[in-house]
Formats: sequence, structure tokens, C-alpha cells
Amino acid sequence: MADLKLQGIHKSFGPTKVLHEIDIALPDGEFLVLVGPSGCGKSTLMNLVAGLEEPSGGRIVLGGRDITDVEPADRNISMVFQSYALYPNMTVAQNIAFPLEMRGVPEAERQKTVKEVSSMLQIEHLLERKPRQLSGGQRQRVAIGRALARHPQLFLFDEPLSNLDAKLRVDMRAEIKRLHMRTGVTTIYVTHDQVEAMTLGTRIAVLKDGLIQQLATPLELYSRPANRFVAEFIGSPSINCFEAVREASGTLRLADGQVIGSAAGATGDKLIVGVRPEDLSMRPANDENALLKGTVSLVEPTGPETYALVDLGVGEATVRMGGLPSVEPGQAVRVHVPPGALHLFDPASGKRLN
Ligand SMILES: Nc1ncnc2c1ncn2[C@@H]1O[C@H](COP(=O)(O)OP(=O)(O)OP(=O)(O)O)[C@@H](O)[C@H]1O
Ligand SMILES: [Mg+2]
Repeated sequence: MADLKLQGIHKSFGPTKVLHEIDIALPDGEFLVLVGPSGCGKSTLMNLVAGLEEPSGGRIVLGGRDITDVEPADRNISMVFQSYALYPNMTVAQNIAFPLEMRGVPEAERQKTVKEVSSMLQIEHLLERKPRQLSGGQRQRVAIGRALARHPQLFLFDEPLSNLDAKLRVDMRAEIKRLHMRTGVTTIYVTHDQVEAMTLGTRIAVLKDGLIQQLATPLELYSRPANRFVAEFIGSPSINCFEAVREASGTLRLADGQVIGSAAGATGDKLIVGVRPEDLSMRPANDENALLKGTVSLVEPTGPETYALVDLGVGEATVRMGGLPSVEPGQAVRVHVPPGALHLFDPASGKRLN
């Protein structure tokens, strides 16, 4: 058990700066999810913490011990990658015990750990099999078991589930959450999956171009994104964004003259107005109380809910509707925008304004 401090970490590969001044403090037991577009530096950060790469500057402190210059094997960190290479010629039990063997842990203790870990991951019945005799999900479990066997102070997961099919991902996601609840090991988890990020993280860090955009609880990120990038990155389907101008008395008007709401501030300001699909509601074309007018352009039923794209003239808005579709393409509709649902951003910097 340990807390982790990343202090002023930066990293360049030759002239290319990949990470800029990363400062993160993880209290003991935290499950931090790291998200961001491809190439933003997520794996680089994980590799630095694991010791597979050297930082160009900054310190890494785990459980009060500065490990910046410590060899990877001596860091007490376990890492699970997307491409979890198991040793093909070893059984599951041997795979799990291998890192312990390397560290000279006695046979009896190794066996005890294999038993403990395999019971936790429900793979006891697979211990004598070889990796090729396992399904993808089972293999991933073994990889996690091998990482767990070291009783690490810190767990690093770099997109561990992205090779699995959708159903298995959901199962393994719950498994990883249960595992964390049970072991309480401080964890950093990289994913591209929205739902994984929201459901697993005690906090989420959003990274873009090597810079942390926001680090907050899933709820804070979702309800008060610090900038337009975070707003568009968190939430699926993505938040709707429109350019608007603030008129006298705060009216926010879209480019085609429609009013989308109001907000205090200087008259004449240009803003980006964001509103999430789930905050909008579909109304009949004659509903005078709904602010926006448009035409349904596309309907996407998913079963429990339906997403409808409504062409507003200034762009399309995604509107979430509960249940099966009750509108069809070509239909004239209105869209209700609740007054409290607007997120306002500066068009130039993208910074949140409200
Ligand atoms: N050894 C290296 N030498 C030079 N450039 C590198 C090296 N490793 C990574 N990079 C560059 O650093 C940037 C960050 O890469 P990184 O692998 O950390 O991204 P990522 O956020 O993990 O992306 P993905 O989501 O695609 O896995 C990329 O532009 C990548 O090309
Ligand atoms: Mg990566």
C-alpha cells in the first residue's frame, strides 16, 4: 500500500516534447483513470512510472521513497499491458509464479500466492493449462494474476481490455473493480473507453498533447468540464456545441437567430454553448415552450434509449430519448433546452466560463 507523487515530470524524445510538467498526487488506494486521444502521452507516462523510460525531468515518489532512479524490477510496481505476453510454454500456474521465482521467493510461498491469486480471479481450474488452451478473457485474467502475485505497491494498467470483445470487457471491468475494492492497491488505469473511465475511476485525468486538462472525480468532469476539450471528450454521445452571441439581458442567440438560453455576462460576447444530448428533450413541432426548432435527420435506436439527430439549421444536435424511437427522419420537431443545462466556453481558449 502506498501513495504516489509525480512531481514536475516531463519527457522529450529528441526535440519532441511529449509530456509537460505533470504533477499528480495519488493518495493510497486511489484508482486513477488516465484518458486522452491517441498519442497524447498516456503510455509514455505509464512507462516512466514503471521505470521502462527515464523522465527528462521531475521526480517519482512511491510510498515516500523516491524511485526516479530505481531499476524497474526494484520499484514494486506491476504493469498489465494491452498485449499481455504470457509465456507460451509455461502453464498458468507457472506463468503466475514466474516473477516470484525470478525474485527468489521460496517454492512453498509461491504456491500459496498462486492459490490465493487464482482463487481471487476464479482461474483455479485453469492452473495446469497452457496459454493457447485459454480464451482471450482467461488469458487476460492470468496476466492480471501474474501482476497481482507480486503484491505490488502500485498497479499500472495500459488498456488491458482493448483486445477483448464487448461482453467480456464488461465482465472484466467489473472484475477489476472488485479486485481493487478487495486489494485497495493504488492504481493508474489507461483506457479509451468512456464507460470504463467513468465506472472505474475514483478520479479521472484527461490528458491532451502531454498536458493535463483536468483531474477530477468522474462526476465533476461530467458536470463541470473545465474546458471544451474535456466537455467533448467525456460523455457519449458527445456534448452538442454551438457558436452563440450574448445579447442584451443575457439572451444567447445562435447564428441563425434562434435563442438557446440565457446567461449573465457582457453583451456582444461570442461564446461556445454546450449542451449534453441527455439534457435535451424532444418536443412536438407546435410546442411553443421549447426553444429550438429543427428537423429530425437521423434516428439511432439502441434498445433502452434512442439518439435522434436534429438539424437545427446551424448544425445538428443529438437528442437522447428514452425507449424506442417515436420520431422519424424528416419530421419537424422542437427541442427543449432546460435553463440550467448550458455549459459555456470561451471560443478562443476553450475555457469554461460558467
Ligand atoms: N521511443 C519513442 N521515441 C520517439 N517518440 C516516441 C517514443 N515513444 C512514444 N513517442 C511519441 O510520443 C507520443 C506519445 O506516445 P504514447 O505512446 O505515450 O501515446 P498514447 O497516449 O499512449 O497513445 P495511444 O492511445 O495511441 O496508445 C507520440 O507522439 C509517440 O509517437
Ligand atoms: Mg498507449
